[in-house]
Amino acid sequence: MIGDNPYLSGALAPVPDEVLALDLPVTGTLPEELEGRWLRNGPNPLGPTDPATHHWFLGDGMVHGVRLCGGRAEWYRNRWVRGPRVAEALGEPHPAGTSFGDRDFGPNTSVGGFAGKTWAMVEAGTTPMTLTYELDTIDYDDFEGTLPAGFTAHPKFDPTTGELHGVCYAYPDLPDRVQHVVVGSEGTVSSVTDVPVDGMPMVHDMSLTETNVLIYDLPVCLDLEMAIGGSPFPFSWNPNHPARVGVLPRAGTADDVVWCEAPQAYVFHPVNAYDTGDGGVVVDVCRYDSMFDQDRRGPVGDSVPTLARWTVDSTTRRVTEKPLADGHHEFPAHDPRVATRSYRYAYTADGLTLGPTTRIDVETSASVIHDHGKGRYGAEPVVIPKDRSTTEDDVWVLVCVNDRAGGPAELVVLDGGDLASPPVARVHLPRRVPDGFHGSWIPDSSVPPT
Ligand SMILES: [Fe+2]
Repeated sequence: MIGDNPYLSGALAPVPDEVLALDLPVTGTLPEELEGRWLRNGPNPLGPTDPATHHWFLGDGMVHGVRLCGGRAEWYRNRWVRGPRVAEALGEPHPAGTSFGDRDFGPNTSVGGFAGKTWAMVEAGTTPMTLTYELDTIDYDDFEGTLPAGFTAHPKFDPTTGELHGVCYAYPDLPDRVQHVVVGSEGTVSSVTDVPVDGMPMVHDMSLTETNVLIYDLPVCLDLEMAIGGSPFPFSWNPNHPARVGVLPRAGTADDVVWCEAPQAYVFHPVNAYDTGDGGVVVDVCRYDSMFDQDRRGPVGDSVPTLARWTVDSTTRRVTEKPLADGHHEFPAHDPRVATRSYRYAYTADGLTLGPTTRIDVETSASVIHDHGKGRYGAEPVVIPKDRSTTEDDVWVLVCVNDRAGGPAELVVLDGGDLASPPVARVHLPRRVPDGFHGSWIPDSSVPPT
């Protein structure tokens, strides 16, 4: 029974097929300046799945997209990411290229635009895949042969240098290290720095400041008993693994990393990070008391995510923690213009199970909440600076809003400076969109139509 697994049912149940809908109905007025695509990746298992062992993170990737142009919503479409496993299940040829480690997986965690390409991405060793403008899979892309192993679903873009930075790991290929990978603006790797770690921690994300990279070595680690038992996702909470954050100078080596003792907690997603000026770093994080301890099929069953400020002191080599807001906070976002620098506003979803969208002033902890309505749940917010805006709160916020009763989803456009007010526009999608993971706004100026 598929319903025996909470990650395969209800709001997480996969959709059965791929659809295309043109000229979507819109309530309100879409800003004409929004010219590009909102894209979102997430698990959508294709074919037989064993609910007893299925892990949410291992479902076949499916990208959902909406193209906006000239005040119109031109299309919605959804497409499975064609790794070999999905291609075979669909009776199609394998994609061009091969993944690191000959994996048969299609990246299922995030999607973004960089160096004129649209990439679907995932952690743990699978090579990214490129997609067409219309979301069809092109190939595995190892950045023209320069990517040494897998990549990450959470690279950080530096708006000053135009680089992408990622902290990557590969299970089971690289059990003793993580890699700091820098990708130049032309789309090839410019540097790789190996950093040894013990216990094979699951390093989902990273942080980037103007001068440093943060490496999260936290207590979700390879579980040998699960691995030997054949678990497809052998990572679990290990209370004996000391939590620490590594401060790596951007151009540094493993010898330069300053490891700082952190709260015994897990973090999938930091918000933004910045240097303190004395070698330390401030980072705001969505943190859990434990993860993959009782619940071994997904992240929901152990603890809830709360928003906290971690101050990483590289002199005392300790991380201090301060709560930043009440409530549950996940899938954080911020104005991309303030990446790597001191900032004011974080935007979040209401935990992993979603709900209202919140803007938190990280200086004052004041919150503004947008309630999407009864039975309507907002997923990851995507923040887009308005044309000609000069202030951090002068942004559009795109949110995919799902109907828990199973009705069609909407892509809503909120005014970030007036978040509690009704949406300026609601794009009506043709059907339900499963709760997924991460996406982005890819303007046509970044990845143009082909
Ligand atoms: Fe993530």
